[in-house]
Amino acid sequence: MKKILVIHGPNLNLLGTREPAVYGRVTLNEINQSLKKLAKLRKVSLAIKQSNHEGEIVDLITKGKKKFDALLINPAAYTHTSVAVRDAISASGILTVEVHLSNIYAREKFRHKSLISPVARGTILGFGPQSYILGLEALVDLLHAQS
Ligand code: DQA
Repeated sequence: MKKILVIHGPNLNLLGTREPAVYGRVTLNEINQSLKKLAKLRKVSLAIKQSNHEGEIVDLITKGKKKFDALLINPAAYTHTSVAVRDAISASGILTVEVHLSNIYAREKFRHKSLISPVARGTILGFGPQSYILGLEALVDLLHAQS
């Protein structure tokens, strides 16, 4: 069975109450439950982590390289700032899909640049919690196409 690592970046633990006009009312736990349901249907295994710490995310990716076949990541604010997270993805060579709840290009200018997109296989954004579902579907399809 293929193994996928899911990483939620900083402040995503606050979903449900965090700026609901932007991020909606769905909690991180609810997102994780729907991801687990889909993983079961598509017969892949998931490990789900949330971290507010850049170095911890770097370590998860670096260590995850040996254990996982793919990475689904919402790097949150680190999308726009973290050369370290980008380099960890690039160095690991892990098949990566980047997701965002909001359409970062329709928001403040500082969110218009993703340092992660160039090292991801693809990016899905702007569909709220559904971005994660579409991202996981895409990864599973890519993994099946590989094997
Ligand atoms: C986000 C968009 C980022 O700009 C922001 O810092 C987040 C969440 C999203 O999912 O829409 O924390 O990644």
